[in-house]
Amino acid sequence: MEPPQESAAGGRKRRRRGGSRNRGKPSSSSQQAPRPAVAPPPPSSPPAKRRRKDGAGQAAVTPKRDNTSIKLDKMRARLYGGHFRMLNETLYTCSGQDAFDYFQKDPSLFDVYHTGYQEQMSRWPEQPVNVIINWLKSHKTSWTVADFGCGNAAVAKNVKNKVFSIDLVSDDPSVIACDMAHTPLESSSVDVAIFCLSLMGTNYPNYLEEANRVLKPSGWLVIAEVRSRLDPNNGGADPEKFSKAIIQLGFSLVSKDMKNKMFVLFYFRKKEKSKVAKRIDWPQLKACMYKRR
Ligand SMILES: C[S@@+](CC[C@H](N)C(=O)[O-])C[C@H]1O[C@@H](n2cnc3c(N)ncnc32)[C@H](O)[C@@H]1O
Repeated sequence: MEPPQESAAGGRKRRRRGGSRNRGKPSSSSQQAPRPAVAPPPPSSPPAKRRRKDGAGQAAVTPKRDNTSIKLDKMRARLYGGHFRMLNETLYTCSGQDAFDYFQKDPSLFDVYHTGYQEQMSRWPEQPVNVIINWLKSHKTSWTVADFGCGNAAVAKNVKNKVFSIDLVSDDPSVIACDMAHTPLESSSVDVAIFCLSLMGTNYPNYLEEANRVLKPSGWLVIAEVRSRLDPNNGGADPEKFSKAIIQLGFSLVSKDMKNKMFVLFYFRKKEKSKVAKRIDWPQLKACMYKRR
């Protein structure tokens, strides 16, 4: 399992041209051996390879058609993967408002993005959203939750709490479609604000300001982010600087969990009498680019 690959601008092109063969390999489903066009021979028959050489009749069972369909599968997987990576890059390199306009113009892109995203997540040994769900389950079900950038609304589907699920597109009446820098939620109305891998836009501080607005005093702010985005040894932001900025927004850092290889988790609490610093030095969070497979 490989961690998501970070890339500075310009690095992607190089990798695409010179990338290793493995990287270009399509998803495992298209790597499977072709299904025979006819029923497999009984166990006593000679191996298929020899039969093709020896028997004229067997030559008709040439795998030519299968090869074509394998190639088509590979091409489809590449196109789909390429489309996902393009959408992912768009989300990381534009503002929330631009992302909202983009996905609202063609909401079907949201499904393309989430199919690719789920495929990537299936390679992670543990999904941060499940850690957050378990954390919520160990606290009060009476807490109201706002899930910023909810994706497929896994949080709402798995806890008893009232959850406001927010994302750019909604095909589910329970999901609020908006740019999460400006939600319709009332001020001081939620006990927990969650950002699970969703601080994607270039204006991500605005999302946290919005969370600050809707959180009640002493409310929880739970953030999971891709580890490499907050790994200074890997071109990522300094996690201390990131925490400091959120503290300046009026929060206390309760705990952080850096033990997972793929993601980091922060648990903040809004101060009872929170005061936003006049100037907050927000670190830039670089885009998380996923590898070609
Ligand atoms: C990487 S996905 C994570 C989804 C979900 N939180 C999870 O952990 O499975 C990030 C989500 O944030 C959403 N998102 C990004 N920017 C947003 C914005 N400005 N407003 C609302 N949603 C946004 C994306 O559409 C996407 O569904």
